[in-house]
Amino acid sequence: MDKVRIGFIGCGGIAQYHFGHMEKLAKARVVATCDKIPERAQAAATRFGAKPYTVYAEMLEREKLDAVYVCVEPSAHDGMELMAIERGCHLFVQKPMTLSMDYAWRVRDALAAKGRISAVGFQCRYVETLPRVKAWLQGQQIGMVSCFRLGGLPMVWWWRERRHSGGQVIEQTIHNYDVMRYLLGEVTAVCGMSREGVVSGVDRYDTEDASTVVMHFASGVVGSMTTGCFSPGGFGNGDFLFYTRKGRLTYDLGGSFRIQEGKLTIEGKPGNDYGLESDEAFLDAIIENDQGLVMSPYADACKTLQLVIGATESFRKGGVLVKL
Ligand SMILES: NC(=O)c1ccc[n+]([C@@H]2O[C@H](COP(=O)([O-])OP(=O)(O)OC[C@H]3O[C@@H](n4cnc5c(N)ncnc54)[C@H](O)[C@@H]3O)[C@@H](O)[C@H]2O)c1
Repeated sequence: MDKVRIGFIGCGGIAQYHFGHMEKLAKARVVATCDKIPERAQAAATRFGAKPYTVYAEMLEREKLDAVYVCVEPSAHDGMELMAIERGCHLFVQKPMTLSMDYAWRVRDALAAKGRISAVGFQCRYVETLPRVKAWLQGQQIGMVSCFRLGGLPMVWWWRERRHSGGQVIEQTIHNYDVMRYLLGEVTAVCGMSREGVVSGVDRYDTEDASTVVMHFASGVVGSMTTGCFSPGGFGNGDFLFYTRKGRLTYDLGGSFRIQEGKLTIEGKPGNDYGLESDEAFLDAIIENDQGLVMSPYADACKTLQLVIGATESFRKGGVLVKL
């Protein structure tokens, strides 16, 4: 196989991001597009000369697809992954892959049972500076870790309602939690507190405005994540700060870093198109039948999902410790 036949479920905002990549990747062939909103499915189909659908079951039954991209809102994962796996498709699922851990474990197990390639939309793992930063941290005695992320409200209708998005941490700051896991390993317990009421006057808005979570890592490191969504302009996608016995590292989610070791300062900025590389890695993994090419397989992403769902459970229960 040198071209991957792809179907999309969900043709909204993030699908447009993938579509831009598909147009650049000769190995990608978008042959079917599905959205509950017919105009969206049709516009995407016209763009690629694909077949439009409004019901994903019909698309999966009628089309011969190698891979399916699932780009629906977090509350809309109603079995589409399981059906696609059953039909023999490889899967790219956008984060957060669902709001139900039971469902996530079922998808993980079905992927393993059928030996399908998977990827999740944690494209920040492909930022080219991240492995260097990880290499600097590895083997060091890490003393203190924190990350701050403050943004605004995404304008999609579902984002403001917790039952659809999962809340700010689950939908948005999940990227920062995922990078924390990538850099520091597994988290064994979380506890956090959140507040509401900073944002006002937004219809149906019921997510947390701001939160701080303490994480205990298996390595013994203790870290914190402070985040919110009350700043209309936002302040980037998050700044990480690590203090080790050797020095200090600052890293932003976009990949710029600064290491200070005594009088030595090392700085770097990424130059790669990491979103494109994330899609290309998934397609290469299918062509070469090598799951190892994907930085964020579904099974690994489940652990990040479990972490943010655990953090949110802790807020909801008034700051209790949640063991993962
Ligand atoms: N990786 C990233 O950086 C990133 C960025 C933005 C969004 N996302 C994630 O992508 C997902 C989608 O977000 P979005 O901004 O594209 O939302 P969106 O509302 O713009 O698009 C979602 C689309 O899915 C369609 N849909 C829902 N259920 C469907 C179904 N059963 N069958 C067919 N179509 C269906 C909707 O009609 C809609 O067009 C979310 O989980 C979000 O968190 C990830």
